[in-house]
Amino acid sequence: MENLILKKLGVEPANSEAFQILISALNNILPYAKSLKSLETWNAPILPNIKLLTTEELEFIESKLSKKSIIPVSECQTMVQRLVPQRKKSAAYYTINAGVNFMAAMVSNYLAEYGKKKLVVADPFFGSGRTLTAALNKIDVKKIKKVWGIEQWPLPALVGYAAILQILNGERDLIEIVVGDTFKTFEKFALPKADIILTNPPFTRWKYLKKNYRDNLLNFMERLGYGQYITRKEVSLQMVSMFLSDYMLKKGGLLISVLPISTFYTIYGKGYKSFIKNNYKVLAMLESKSRSSFSHDSGFKEIILVAIKEKPEKGLLTVFAEVDDDFKKIADRIMGKNKVFVDLFNIRRLPRFLDINWLSLFGKKDLRDFLVELFNQGLEEGTLEYWDKALGDRSIVRGVEMYGPEFFFIPNKYWKISNQNGAYVKIKNIKDKTNLNLDKKFLVKTLRKPSLYDRVIELDVESYMVSIPPRDMEDLPTDWQKYIQWGADSDTAAPAIKSYGKLWYSHVHEQMRTKEPFGHIFIPDKVDLGFKRRGVFANYSNRKLAASKNFYIIKNKDEKIIKLLLGWFNSTIFISSLMLLGRRISNNWTRLLKNDYMELPVINVDNIEDIEHINESVDNILAKALPPFWEQINRDYRYNLDLSIVKSLKIENPEKKVKKMYKILNNYLNK
Ligand SMILES: C[S@@+](CC[C@H](N)C(=O)[O-])C[C@H]1O[C@@H](n2cnc3c(N)ncnc32)[C@H](O)[C@@H]1O
Repeated sequence: MENLILKKLGVEPANSEAFQILISALNNILPYAKSLKSLETWNAPILPNIKLLTTEELEFIESKLSKKSIIPVSECQTMVQRLVPQRKKSAAYYTINAGVNFMAAMVSNYLAEYGKKKLVVADPFFGSGRTLTAALNKIDVKKIKKVWGIEQWPLPALVGYAAILQILNGERDLIEIVVGDTFKTFEKFALPKADIILTNPPFTRWKYLKKNYRDNLLNFMERLGYGQYITRKEVSLQMVSMFLSDYMLKKGGLLISVLPISTFYTIYGKGYKSFIKNNYKVLAMLESKSRSSFSHDSGFKEIILVAIKEKPEKGLLTVFAEVDDDFKKIADRIMGKNKVFVDLFNIRRLPRFLDINWLSLFGKKDLRDFLVELFNQGLEEGTLEYWDKALGDRSIVRGVEMYGPEFFFIPNKYWKISNQNGAYVKIKNIKDKTNLNLDKKFLVKTLRKPSLYDRVIELDVESYMVSIPPRDMEDLPTDWQKYIQWGADSDTAAPAIKSYGKLWYSHVHEQMRTKEPFGHIFIPDKVDLGFKRRGVFANYSNRKLAASKNFYIIKNKDEKIIKLLLGWFNSTIFISSLMLLGRRISNNWTRLLKNDYMELPVINVDNIEDIEHINESVDNILAKALPPFWEQINRDYRYNLDLSIVKSLKIENPEKKVKKMYKILNNYLNK
């Protein structure tokens, strides 16, 4: 009977846990109603469907409304997210206590300072109403004009409704919780614009949304007047959600939202970032002290954004801080009695190298201050220049992407190189001992993966990439034909065959032709900042080589520039900027993408006077087997390299600067 009732009411999934939650929500609502049956006339999630139930089914529900099986509604609010069908796709990861408590404390301070009369409080991605209930507990019911929310799943929506009804002492005319897709339904209901929006929008990946749905979202944004901030290529669902929230927020209104930090360092957030910089007083950005996210069961690195929809005054400073159980103290710091701040930034005046990644504004104050001063001095002297201006945006390229490394790299798991001369590479199959004589015309020396070259800067590359021009099999040398046939038969080439069809063996050649991924300097796409093994950041080869997509290749040909850049990338200054400005992938792993490099200062060859000095210190370590990076600090060869660079940048007190940098880094290592 339980499942049948749930189905009739439109609740998915129909199971006993869902039924228990339903009963608990109804139990919270009934004190404010005449009878169970009377709820069918209410404007609330699920309740109108009560008219579909038989007398027997109604009696069954009533029999369950005994106190024993009732779960407190606040517990239901957390429990229900685990029952949501397609939880990941829905992004049903509700805000944790630290987040909702902070929101509530912030709302109190906002009301104290802005003293609004009657309030509309809303969450366009309502879930079970956790963001709203925490805050509503702090607001006098008499001050509420309306509370509204939109949620696509009925059961959490009902639970949230029940919780709010109780907080508002049964004043149901003040509540409107709509069940449906926010983007499709919000215009249909005459929802009033809000004074306060507290939310945690879905971060579902754009590519997982259906094309049709995506197109509708883009048209919708255009219609609401946000088209100029969104281009088809640079969009994310959370950004669309935030523009919708902006549309629904009154002038002077308060917005507090959980957002993935990637909104503030990827190209997908660029439009929104510039939008809030110019149209909001961004009061604070908070990260969580004890965990990476502010949502239950979520692995994303998230922040909480606090902003008021008002043109920011010129010198407005934004608080960047950590929050946890000290939410009240932090809320007071942001607005209220205790305005003492730790890290404050004018986000409209950030230097380019900080603006690319707002994650760099949290913590690490001494390292950031050090680098900002050094970069600013270098940029003023002209010894540093932004990459795009100094080297151009074609100077760096990602390596070759290939489908099926055990075919496209030689040697590989199945074939070793047994001999080679100027024109041929002889390979031997490890299992059946077959020999093939491969014409070198179709082989390109290529770096395979960064861990192979992490000890010595100068490269000794033994691997080749298979790069066959788009010709029919019959037109290729016989041994190449045999190798290709082996690739197809052994399944090592299966990914390429699946993606490229008949001329699958040529997809690498096409990239070699169009990208020209050749150069003398190679930098890894991502690194583990723990540097447990790695002693080198950038590798060097005096012969031009190619690289796989695990590397970026610096394409410059000028010998003078090459050595200088090699020194720069292996210097402690660069490693420090990677620590500060890299896009964190996990606790330790970090990366910079091409777009980031463009926004970073780089040593400016045109204005460096003592190039010889740097060359000398680079030559000193070129062929050396280097210990893990952190063990090199304070060794002569590293000090000489760093000092020669800092001197050439015309930084004041170079010796002192280098020592200070080591001290800062040592502090991090010892933490
Ligand atoms: C991250 S949860 C946040 C829930 C709640 N605001 C909180 O903070 O606890 C996002 C919520 O949005 C809902 N949601 C996602 N996409 C939606 C859409 N297009 N329309 C309506 N709700 C949606 C999900 O079901 C989920 O409950």
